[in-house]
Amino acid sequence: METKIFRLVNGSGPLSLTPKYILPQEKRPKLSEITILASIPIIDLKEPSALVVEQISKACEEYGFFQIVNHGIPVELCDKMMAVITDFFELPPEEKAPFFTTDLTKQVKLFNYFVKDGSQNKVSMWSECFSHPWHPLDDIIHLLPQNPPQYREVVAEYAKEIGVLMKRLLSLISQGLGLEKGCLVKKLGEKPILRAQGNYYPPCPDPELTLGLNVHTDLNALTIVRQSEGVTGLQVIRDGKWVAVESIPNAFVINLGDQIQVLSNGRYKSVHHRAVTNKTQKRVSVATFYAPSRDAIIGPIEDLIDEQHPAVYRKYHYSEFLDEFYKQEGTRRLVKEIFELKY
Ligand code: OGA
Ligand code: NI
Repeated sequence: METKIFRLVNGSGPLSLTPKYILPQEKRPKLSEITILASIPIIDLKEPSALVVEQISKACEEYGFFQIVNHGIPVELCDKMMAVITDFFELPPEEKAPFFTTDLTKQVKLFNYFVKDGSQNKVSMWSECFSHPWHPLDDIIHLLPQNPPQYREVVAEYAKEIGVLMKRLLSLISQGLGLEKGCLVKKLGEKPILRAQGNYYPPCPDPELTLGLNVHTDLNALTIVRQSEGVTGLQVIRDGKWVAVESIPNAFVINLGDQIQVLSNGRYKSVHHRAVTNKTQKRVSVATFYAPSRDAIIGPIEDLIDEQHPAVYRKYHYSEFLDEFYKQEGTRRLVKEIFELKY
């Protein structure tokens, strides 16, 4: 296998562990504390659907995360998707430069996350991210990379399959909540915001000092992640401890975002997660997101509210939630608390 040297779009020369990447003590990952005893549930979608619904429901309540196998998306297509995104990140900086932006509202954007330390200095994450819509693609396909040459066609094919899987998962999750199959898709509105994000985590000389992706919850409704095989990095909080998400061949990692937490009135959780770096191996992931229409009204679903379960959140337009999110300038703090009702 050819090993390419990764270079950041806006970096000078190969990536090195300069102070710009070194986290203040309290933000470091403390890798010795990772629990190896627990792992997130693995659900086989070929099992009878009543069982799948039950397993997903339990996973959503207890973990907010699970993996799926036998999901029906051809492994060859997933491999191709991972290959084109990897090739894109490994282009020389000058070829990636046209995609770079610090304007997080751009449709197609290559960017680097950061966190702020105690003195408000930016500390960069040890990663690079590339984000764009996955549906509808026609309006933006001309804005996507032409190198690697198959990028556009592979994304289009992958997006089609992901669209089917998203609907299927939203149906299973609706049923798990005791709702009609189409309930969540309907609540999320007619023009859902559908974006994909590639994340590239180069090997890091000292993973104790950096993070690939800071602690966050996803602000959308549902996320489907494909990750490199044979290398771990994604971690989720479970009972106050960090749990590593295993790398399982041909699986997808599924996690709930803030909007399903709100719609389910807090029954299903949008759980904190992060990505740590690896000393010897690069790691790549492709996350595809399903978020509500900007004008969708999000709030606890009526059928889930009763005397024992009063509404935990107020209703809002999804656009309001996004406005709060963008006020944070890419630091990925929490926003769902803003919409909590105080009694
Ligand atoms: C994300 C995310 C995880 C990963 O993009 O929101 O959590 O493994 N990605 O890269
Ligand atoms: Ni995430």
